[in-house]
Amino acid sequence: MKENKIEISYKVFDDINELTKEDAWLLNEAREVTKQAYAPYSNFYVGAAAKLVNGEIVAGTNQENASYPVGLCAERVLLASASTLYPEVAIDTMAISYHSGNGNSNQPIAPCGMCRQSLQEYEMRVKKPIRLILAGLEGKIFVFEKASQLLPLGFTSESMM
Ligand code: THU
Repeated sequence: MKENKIEISYKVFDDINELTKEDAWLLNEAREVTKQAYAPYSNFYVGAAAKLVNGEIVAGTNQENASYPVGLCAERVLLASASTLYPEVAIDTMAISYHSGNGNSNQPIAPCGMCRQSLQEYEMRVKKPIRLILAGLEGKIFVFEKASQLLPLGFTSESMM
């Protein structure tokens, strides 16, 4: 028997002023687009903005439904848009933020498991990691170099070979 250990490393910034100009701009886009979310059921408004390697910016917001499971997360709305508008173009960086009905938005957002799976698929499809900037409207910011870091031992197309 042998015990394995998985380590994940990411950067923690105290606030947006510590980011590069480019990252700060993208995070502000994500924060801004939370206003377009359709989240009348959870009152948790999520915005995502991504910079593609061709320089284009694509955004997404969560889209809920009276039939709750039909709702979509901001990240997957963004990925579907990017894939439709710019098929096969890699995503360099995605920033994700939120504002909440209860007024608290000072913890970095944690993408859900389904979105982590979708992000991993995108990375593999276009063969480039997606940098993730995770934040609220204020407070600390986490930066991961690869979205798939958030899904250790993930199931991929290679798992079926
Ligand atoms: N949600 C996102 O859009 N992205 C995340 O990373 C976490 C959760 C949405 C789904 C649902 O509309 C609401 O937030 C509450 O779960």
